[in-house]
Amino acid sequence: MKRIGILTGGGDAPGLNAVIRAVVKTAIYEYDCEVLGIRDGYDGCIEEKGIVPLDIESVRGLLPRGGTILGAANRGNPYARKVIRDGREIMIDVSDEIIKGIKRLDMDALLVLGGDGTLRIAHELYQKGAPVIGVPKTIDNDIGGTEATFGFDTAVSTATEAIDRLHTTAEAHHRVMALELMGRDAGFIALHAGMAGGADVILIPEIPFKLDAVVAKVRQRVERGYLFSIIVISEGAKPQGGAQIFSRGGDAMYVPRLGGIGQVVGEYIENHGFETRVTVLGHLQRGGSPTPFDRWLATRFGAAAVRLAGQGKFNRMVALRAGKIMDIPIEEAALPKRVDVNDDAVVTARGMGVSFGDE
Ligand code: F6P
Repeated sequence: MKRIGILTGGGDAPGLNAVIRAVVKTAIYEYDCEVLGIRDGYDGCIEEKGIVPLDIESVRGLLPRGGTILGAANRGNPYARKVIRDGREIMIDVSDEIIKGIKRLDMDALLVLGGDGTLRIAHELYQKGAPVIGVPKTIDNDIGGTEATFGFDTAVSTATEAIDRLHTTAEAHHRVMALELMGRDAGFIALHAGMAGGADVILIPEIPFKLDAVVAKVRQRVERGYLFSIIVISEGAKPQGGAQIFSRGGDAMYVPRLGGIGQVVGEYIENHGFETRVTVLGHLQRGGSPTPFDRWLATRFGAAAVRLAGQGKFNRMVALRAGKIMDIPIEEAALPKRVDVNDDAVVTARGMGVSFGDE
C-alpha cells in the first residue's frame, strides 16, 4: 500500500478530525504510506485544488477540534451534480469522472467518512471500480450495522447540557420548556439526552404522539405541585395520523430539511393554559469539540479503516459491535437504525413516569 485517500462527506460531526488524525498517523507509522486529503467530499477528486497531502505535521492538534479540515459537502452527490449549462441549472452524473479522478491519483484505497447517503454512494462507486472503505459518521446514530457512530455522544452531551440549563429557568418561572433536537428520522439524541436531562415528556419519530396526551402530562404535573415541565422533541417526531414538519423541501441534491415540530407542540401547550417557551438547539449539536468517547471511537475507527486498506478489504465499513471494532459490508450502512420501542431504554423511561405522548 503506497497511497490512500480520505474524504469527509455529508454534514460534519464532532470527531471527523480525530479520524483524519488517526488515519494519517496509522498510515505513516504502520505502513509508511502516503495520505491524500480530498476536499469537500467526492468533489475534491475532480476539482483542480481538490487534493491536499496530509503528513504528521498537518494533523497536529486535530484530536479535540470540531468540524473537518477537509471540508464537507452534503450536496456532493456525484450522481446529481448541479451545473449551469446555457444559463440553465441542470443535474449531471459525474460518477465516471470521479472514478477517473481516483485512478489518476493512483490511490490504493479511498477512505470515506460519511453518513448513510455518503456511504451508499461509496458502495455505488465501488461497483464502478473504486477501492472504498467506509467509516460511519453522524450525530443521529442512525446507521445500520454499528452500535455507535462518532459525533452522537457529543451531540447528546450538548443537548443534555441544554436541558439542564432549561430546567433551572423553567423551575424559576413555573413554565413549560420545549426543546427541539436533531436526529432526522431517529429519536436517539432526544431519547438519550431526554433521559440524561430528566425530561418529563420525550417525543421521538418512532412513537407518534397525541398533543392532548402531552398537555395531560403537563396538567398532571401541575396538579401534583410541579409547576414546570421539560418537553424534549426530536425534529422528526410526528403526531398520530399526522406528518413530519419540514422547514424546507428537498431536491435531487438536498434532502428535505426537518424543523418546526417544537413550535407546534409548544404553541399547543400554551393554548391550553400553560406558559411555554420553545428552544431549537439546531447546529450547536454538531459544532465544537468531541467528547472523550467520540475522540476514542473516531481514533479506533480511523486506525481500523487503514488496516482494512492494508488487507485490501474494500467495500467494507468499520463498525462497533459489543465494544469491539469489526468490519461489515458497507451496504449495511443503508439499513436504517431506529430506536427499538421495546428496548429497555424506552421501557425504563416509561416505568419512571416519562411520557412519550402516546398514552
Ligand atoms: O444528519 C445530521 C443532521 O444534523 C440532522 O440531525 C439534521 O436533520 C441535518 O443533519 C441538518 O442538516 P443541514 O446541515 O443540512 O442543516
